[in-house]
Amino acid sequence: KKKIAVMTSGGDAPGMNGAVRAVVRQTIASGCTAFAVYEGYQGLVDGGDMIKEMKWEDVRGWLSEGGTLIGTARCMAFHERKGRLTAANNMIEKGIDALVICGGDGSLTGADRFRGEWPSLVDELVSSGMRTEQEVKPFRHLNIVGLVGSIDNDLSTTDATIGCYSSLQRICQAIDFIDATAFSHQRAFVIEVMGRHCGWLALMAGVSTGADFVFLPENPPSENWQEEMCSIVGKHRELGKRKTIVVVAEGAHDRDLNAISPNMVKDLLSNKVGLDTRVTTLGHVQRGGTACAYDRMLATLQGVEAVKAVLEATPETPSPVICIDENKIVRKGLIEAVQITKDVAKKIEAKDFAGAMAGRDAEFGE
Ligand code: F6P
Repeated sequence: KKKIAVMTSGGDAPGMNGAVRAVVRQTIASGCTAFAVYEGYQGLVDGGDMIKEMKWEDVRGWLSEGGTLIGTARCMAFHERKGRLTAANNMIEKGIDALVICGGDGSLTGADRFRGEWPSLVDELVSSGMRTEQEVKPFRHLNIVGLVGSIDNDLSTTDATIGCYSSLQRICQAIDFIDATAFSHQRAFVIEVMGRHCGWLALMAGVSTGADFVFLPENPPSENWQEEMCSIVGKHRELGKRKTIVVVAEGAHDRDLNAISPNMVKDLLSNKVGLDTRVTTLGHVQRGGTACAYDRMLATLQGVEAVKAVLEATPETPSPVICIDENKIVRKGLIEAVQITKDVAKKIEAKDFAGAMAGRDAEFGE
């Protein structure tokens, strides 16, 4: 009976609980034993009760819960070989040699590295006398499958990450609320949204709420963006608009990579356009809360696919990441997916904005 563990790692995202539920239940339905690792990689290092067997009813009602009920953490110990050795030992103790990880690109890369290192970790467990050859014999290969949980929608090769549509929905609701008060006072609002290096949330929030101007890391505004933005906002006002909404991605910058902050935008709108302007940073409200229907569905279908991928894997199969591509749940190479994503970040750093946008095509819908 295969033992499959599921873990959430990195920033939480709505839908992660749905993914854990699906992995647990599909594992049990396939005649295997399911485990949950609590508190991300820290739980692997700590072992004991942090790696718990999960029964069917343990995940009852989890589809509609926000955050991640099995916890997540940034784990320094796992960055060191000693920590990973302890983690391998803890997994072997529980009989686990397959791990499904729901997290962002950093967490997924760490998982694949762990898999690559696994045979040498197992050798070290034997040579150091922590385990016998007999004990480690059935655990010569570690199986890793990635699920992408992130509100940022920042993994190239998948159209949507688990959590991004819930977050977008929350942002739209918040902007709708702000719209009402902005309209009443004829005010301008500068809204900062999350997304680290990825402007998907900002762009789609702008499209979905009819914002006046949007600042994205991948596609910075023109050299004279100050005049451009003020002129567009001014024109909208002349046409009778009573409110102004400017969305700023948290990683927004100009073409020279100088940060564009919400306060800079506010000052321009106040001093150059003469608008009574406020700044609202939506913050972690965008990340918590329940998952929307799309994220519940995505998490469930992908969780099921992850278990199938585990059961079909051979030691030679490269670690897959479960994606959604043109509405189909598909497996892609985990390492390639992370690499393409990293290339976009490198293109932004090198000021190759056209290249960065091209690299995001799958997410922005061209
Ligand atoms: O989950 C990704 C993200 O939401 C980014 O958009 C943001 O920069 C970051 O998390 C903030 O996370 P934390 O407050 O946990 O460091």
